Amino acid sequence: MESVKFDYSKICRFIGKEEVSVLYPQARQAQKSLENGTAKGNDFLGWVNLPVDITSDLLADIEKTAADLRARTQVVVVIGIGGSYLGARAVIEALSDSFHNYGNADMKVIFAGHNIGEDYYHELMNYLKDKEFGICVISKSGTTTEPAIAFRLLKELLEKKVGREEAGRRIVAITDASKGALRTLADQEGYKTFVIPDNVGGRFSVLTPVGLLPIAIAGFDVRDLVKGAVEMRQMCLEGEQNIAVEYAVARTALYRKGYAVELLANFNPKLHYITEWWKQLYGESEGKEHKGIFPAGADFTTDLHSMGQYIQEGVRMLMETVISVEKPEYKVEIPSDQANLDKLNFLAGKRVDEVNKMAELGTQIAHVDGGVPNMKVLMPALNALYIGQLFYFFELACGISGCMLGVNPFDQPGVEAYKNNMFALLEKPGYEEASKAIKAKL
Ligand code: PA5
Repeated sequence: MESVKFDYSKICRFIGKEEVSVLYPQARQAQKSLENGTAKGNDFLGWVNLPVDITSDLLADIEKTAADLRARTQVVVVIGIGGSYLGARAVIEALSDSFHNYGNADMKVIFAGHNIGEDYYHELMNYLKDKEFGICVISKSGTTTEPAIAFRLLKELLEKKVGREEAGRRIVAITDASKGALRTLADQEGYKTFVIPDNVGGRFSVLTPVGLLPIAIAGFDVRDLVKGAVEMRQMCLEGEQNIAVEYAVARTALYRKGYAVELLANFNPKLHYITEWWKQLYGESEGKEHKGIFPAGADFTTDLHSMGQYIQEGVRMLMETVISVEKPEYKVEIPSDQANLDKLNFLAGKRVDEVNKMAELGTQIAHVDGGVPNMKVLMPALNALYIGQLFYFFELACGISGCMLGVNPFDQPGVEAYKNNMFALLEKPGYEEASKAIKAKL
């Protein structure tokens, strides 16, 4: 069976075999603690078995809800932030035609609630005012400020446009089973709802309705995505070779040797949001107690013409993981040109991907020569099945890495600091004391 693979053979110039192999028992132990529920943060381990726990009824409900929304609308706005946003966006962008924006020709999926840009909302509402649109609002807590503001604005616009009853048919809420403002509102208004399981945190929730419904609305096959995750789970938990353990071991060994930043790079612009999803997964899971690898991202060859200089010759604290897609979907050959003014006739008849692959190989050699340990994640092709495999691989490796680091990989206490300050500055009821304290600092 073809599958996502991992190759860390190129780190051997930077680290001794012994320094790597000594970590394997620790990594296997960490995985066991995730499987048997004894890891730190063990009330958030639902993602470990999520791919095999998803029922066919739930998938059918997701597909039916997506079909209903597609029939009623031309555009669906997916409202959410962080883990309630990035997984869906990653898959939709990876699978969409680059020039149909999102989704396919007859359905656009666009995003809101992931920023508080006033101009963004002005332009969004302007764009939506003459469109048949629907809303998929996602928030596990049901109280996050950014999506709540977006939902307030777009719900009002939709109700004014089509009336409260029809708006109610075009709004789907994905939230907690019983808690939070979004749950209360959805129940009051009779919206169709899906539940985010209690034991699955936001950044591990792409294989719940949080990711699956928007992906289905955009017209992509959620069953293939889940199947891919099931396959990777089986390969890692039951197979001979566990690439999640390998990846966790390799990056942990490099981190302990002083490589504090991991750059996830790709040679396919469709992977940009997969990198964004990965950055959240690793950054929010590991960056605690003044520890953790800083996750950064780069899109090559684009960023080779900007960040490439730093990667090649800057401070030697970088390790690099490249996601390499083996086969492109389409074939484009470089034509011959009689005048050959650009001197590119040596490439005539070659596929664009052949040039891209040589850029990839040349970059790997240059970065390794320049002092950047390089690892590779190989995807046979960019489709829902392999993205499902990739997601599970990264999630499991993230859980293992976090346990090896000694932190709780499943909480995110640090994200409250900005929220508390923002509420104090905005004089939210209940923040009177904090308001006085923060104003004294200004
Ligand atoms: O991973 C996480 O838990 C966070 O990124 C959340 O997903 C994010 O803050 C959004 O939270 P909520 O879904 O409660 O609105």
